[in-house]
Amino acid sequence: MDQKELKKGLQNILDGNKEWMDLVKNDTTGRFEQLAHGQHPEILWIGCADSRVPANELTGRRPGEVFVHRNIANMCIHADMNMLSVLDYAVTVLQVKHIIVAGHYGCGGVTAALSREQFGIIDNWLCHIKDVYRLHAQELNSIKDEKEKINRLVELNVKEQVLNLCSTSIVQNAWQVRKNLAIHGMVIDITTGELIDLNTTYTSKDGLIKGKSEQILSFR
Ligand code: CO
Repeated sequence: MDQKELKKGLQNILDGNKEWMDLVKNDTTGRFEQLAHGQHPEILWIGCADSRVPANELTGRRPGEVFVHRNIANMCIHADMNMLSVLDYAVTVLQVKHIIVAGHYGCGGVTAALSREQFGIIDNWLCHIKDVYRLHAQELNSIKDEKEKINRLVELNVKEQVLNLCSTSIVQNAWQVRKNLAIHGMVIDITTGELIDLNTTYTSKDGLIKGKSEQILSFR
């Protein structure tokens, strides 16, 4: 990047901030003043890092209303200390009422996981999506259209990540002491902006014990 381009890019970012500051300064509702004293979001959003799927805009929520964790392909990996720390803070301290795992159709991470190419260090992250593929290989292999196959894996991946969250000690311990924690799986249609509910909501660990294979997801 040459100096001119660097200066212009940096100025653009700072100019954008000035616009935001004007909005904060001219706000008459007092919400920003209130936010300076703390946050009480009711939603934890776990979404893809993709620039097209911003949590607040998609849910029509203002600053202070959504606690956010994003990574490539909205994964909830049990050994990911980053995700676990966000989850614990959101569930235990902020006492959020809804956790939304949000995938999106046409996800680049899921598309890459479906290919057999090497992309670099991300391949080790994509392995977790390949695991989801392996779990649902029969269904996915029966889909001939590549785009359709990717989008179905996007949906199945969301459902698996919801189960991953449900099986954490953090969520199960919260369910022991309160009834108002729901975990939802959703998918965004980026062509319309629609947030589609996948009807995979869990509100207690009892919901997990439907079949023998799912019993193992519950600690007690
Ligand atoms: Co994505």
